Amino acid sequence: MYLSKEEERILNGEEGEARRLAMKLVVRVGEALGAERLVKISHAHASGISYDNIGDAGLEFLETMARNGGKAKVFATFNPVGMCMELEPPLKLREEPDFVRKQLRIVKLLELMGFIRSITCIPYRIRSPRLGEHLAWGESSAVAVANTLYGARTNREGGPLALAAALVGRTYYWGLHLDENRHPTIKLVVRNAKVSDELRAGLIGYYMGLELSDHIPLVEAKLAKERHVISMCAAAAASGNIAMCLVKDFSPEYREPVNGLERVEIDEKELVTLRESIETASLDEAELFFTGCPHHDASFVTKVADYIVSKNIGRLKKEMWIAIPGYQASKVRDIARKLREKNIYILPGTCIVVSRLRGRAKAIATDSLKTAFYMPRRHGIRVALSTAWQYIDKFSE
Ligand code: F3S
Repeated sequence: MYLSKEEERILNGEEGEARRLAMKLVVRVGEALGAERLVKISHAHASGISYDNIGDAGLEFLETMARNGGKAKVFATFNPVGMCMELEPPLKLREEPDFVRKQLRIVKLLELMGFIRSITCIPYRIRSPRLGEHLAWGESSAVAVANTLYGARTNREGGPLALAAALVGRTYYWGLHLDENRHPTIKLVVRNAKVSDELRAGLIGYYMGLELSDHIPLVEAKLAKERHVISMCAAAAASGNIAMCLVKDFSPEYREPVNGLERVEIDEKELVTLRESIETASLDEAELFFTGCPHHDASFVTKVADYIVSKNIGRLKKEMWIAIPGYQASKVRDIARKLREKNIYILPGTCIVVSRLRGRAKAIATDSLKTAFYMPRRHGIRVALSTAWQYIDKFSE
């Protein structure tokens, strides 16, 4: 692989041991994939930082990098963790002191290495990627959003690779960083299905992941909001290996290819069948409702609070959990206290997929198809699908 003088210097350890190790990792992976050179990045986002995922070995790796003077060379953020940060968690999410101590140590080490205390899977809300900009992001939903909604360029990086890329400010120039790999390879037309909530958008994404995995789909669907595109991308990246799609009216790189594309059409019928195959619990069986996968912006919390007031809703009969970025916790502190009285919990910096929910709930409801994909597989938890508003209406006193 061709390396610039600066890259050679880093590889020779002239910027310290941590950067030497990081450069070695990036170069090794790039060479294995056949990349000819590296590319400078402007933002790295590390995933895979939940203690439940990485365990003591991962914690030790981070200790080593930090001890050896590891410092991010570029803007760097990191994913949510497997516990509730900043605010009092609901009972089912309480953790033993040892788990909490180790998870907090992981967060601390990342901060020591110059990462912003983001604790979120929507890093594009902290810093919007620019069209054509190169990134090294590790969170699959965020990767799909960066490529799809912003026209920025990133592959799906593993946790240690995104960390290494942050330390050297580069990644291997391969895959979705290259122009020739960013063209649509199939067209998906969603007929007669109005997409008015994120649950339905997620169903389209889930279908894409299952049926069109490894493609870059050109999507023609009536998606009304950016949040719908985010839900669709997250589901497609969970149920399949989709890191980018091109969505009419949303993607800056959307172009109909002159020579046409193979075309797949679906309609309401396919979405209903798919929903039936995913739902393994009824709403009555669900012990709680979870929304915020990917994280909601804190403004969603205000929206829920306004809805509760406008409909004069009392305490919900069952819990509702809303995950938001850890860095936004202070924005919602007061409102979160009031919502707790309604049985609604705000979870800053939390990802329930990497939490330790297994054995603590048998069935949950959600509007996130990414959560619906992982809950049965990782935790053996059955899922019901519902929008947040349907759940609130059904279980309000
Ligand atoms: Fe975010 Fe975890 Fe879902 S990282 S997208 S809340 S699986």
